[in-house]
Amino acid sequence: MAGRALTPVRAAAQAAQRISSSNLSLRIPTRNAGDELDYLILTFNRMIDRLEGSFQQMKQFSADVSHELRTPITAIRGQIEVALFTAQTTDQYREAMFNALQDVDRLSQLVRALFLLSQAESGQLVLQKSRLDLSEVVRDQVEQFQIPAEAAAVHLAADLPAECPAEVDRVQIERLISNLLSNALKFTPEGGQVLVTLRYAPSQTADQAAEHIEIIVEDSGRGIAAEHLPHIFDRFYRVPSAGAAPAPEQGLGLGLSFVAWIAKAHDGRIDVESVPGKGTRFIVKLPAPGIGSVSLELAAQPVEPIMNEL
Ligand SMILES: Nc1ncnc2c1ncn2[C@@H]1O[C@H](COP(=O)(O)OP(=O)(O)OP(=O)(O)O)[C@@H](O)[C@H]1O
Ligand SMILES: [Mg+2]
Repeated sequence: MAGRALTPVRAAAQAAQRISSSNLSLRIPTRNAGDELDYLILTFNRMIDRLEGSFQQMKQFSADVSHELRTPITAIRGQIEVALFTAQTTDQYREAMFNALQDVDRLSQLVRALFLLSQAESGQLVLQKSRLDLSEVVRDQVEQFQIPAEAAAVHLAADLPAECPAEVDRVQIERLISNLLSNALKFTPEGGQVLVTLRYAPSQTADQAAEHIEIIVEDSGRGIAAEHLPHIFDRFYRVPSAGAAPAPEQGLGLGLSFVAWIAKAHDGRIDVESVPGKGTRFIVKLPAPGIGSVSLELAAQPVEPIMNEL
């Protein structure tokens, strides 16, 4: 009798043993008995769904990386061939070398960005939080972008409180702001405007007394069509331009994946609103300092890995 009761368990176990990384689409068949074993099988199957999703993401990532690396490598090869075989004058030779150098720079930038991303992903990039005045951090960043803004003939302004105490990782928050600012300037035509606002906003949770900090970067630029909005935080995603190839001013498509990681790593979030042809607004919400220290139990909860959802 005991043997007969175990048969369905054995069948499920045998089905589970057949599942490996090369056939992650297999599932353990349920028996439609509605019993505890079916519940266990369903739970297993959902776990495999999640694993399959992660595998798919990793595969996509490696495919994207090799594609992105191939482009500058092919260009460098082409420039070196020009220098070696076709250039006749010193100027032609120099130009080929200059172009090759630019592509090498792009390659180094890509490798550096990928290194940082993989560090963030594997949890090696630990935040170094300290208590600081966020107003000052944002003001410094906006000042640093004044020269590129002038060069692009875009009016860059900031609306900041006199002081805004926060508990954040300075380097990462600077990176977050500079990525949003560089995008805003890149995608806003001459004569446009970029505004950075920092403010305390009431939390949307039940506890209305709690506040969070908002960093808002808005521009009067080209905007992003609704169908692209859900993807702009994905790695390597660039909104395709009217022509087939991405416009040269577009970068690696990695900036916003970092920005999203940084916001999440601070227990915050980022939202985006955009009207094509009118402009874009990125809203970063960070917890206000002090909220986390209200409850020691809360602070002691284990931290979930952050990159999984990115
Ligand atoms: N302010 C903006 N206005 C219009 N489009 C934007 C704006 N910010 C981002 N985008 C779109 O989202 C895409 C992804 O942005 P992201 O910062 O990740 O990449 P990137 O700027 O192209 O390259 P990188 O930041 O890696 O140099 C951009 O290529 C662009 O198409
Ligand atoms: Mg960018």
